Amino acid sequence: MRIEHDVARGAAFEILVNGTPCRAYAGETVAAAMLAGGLAGARRDTAGRPRGPFCNMGTCCECMVTIGDGDNRRRMRGCLIDAAPGMMVTDG
Ligand code: FES
Repeated sequence: MRIEHDVARGAAFEILVNGTPCRAYAGETVAAAMLAGGLAGARRDTAGRPRGPFCNMGTCCECMVTIGDGDNRRRMRGCLIDAAPGMMVTDG
C-alpha cells in the first residue's frame, strides 16, 4: 500500500497490467505501482507459481515484466523502470 499522509506525489495516471488498469504516479516504478495495485505477481516460476518484487533495488530479478506490445516489447526489471501513462505491462 502507499503512504497516504504527508506525501507529495506526481501526477496520477494509469498503466495496463495484463490488460487491467493500474494507478501509478509520476516518479513511481512499475513494480511499486503493481504492488500498490495488488498486482504483484510479476512472473511465474517453472512450477507456475507467481513471483513478485523482492528486493526492489534491481538485484533479484523477481520483478521481471514485459513492457510494450507487438514488435516493441522488452523484458525488464519492473523495479528499475519508471511507470509512464498508458504503459502496457505483462507478466513474465
Ligand atoms: S525486485 Fe528485485 S530486481 Fe526488481
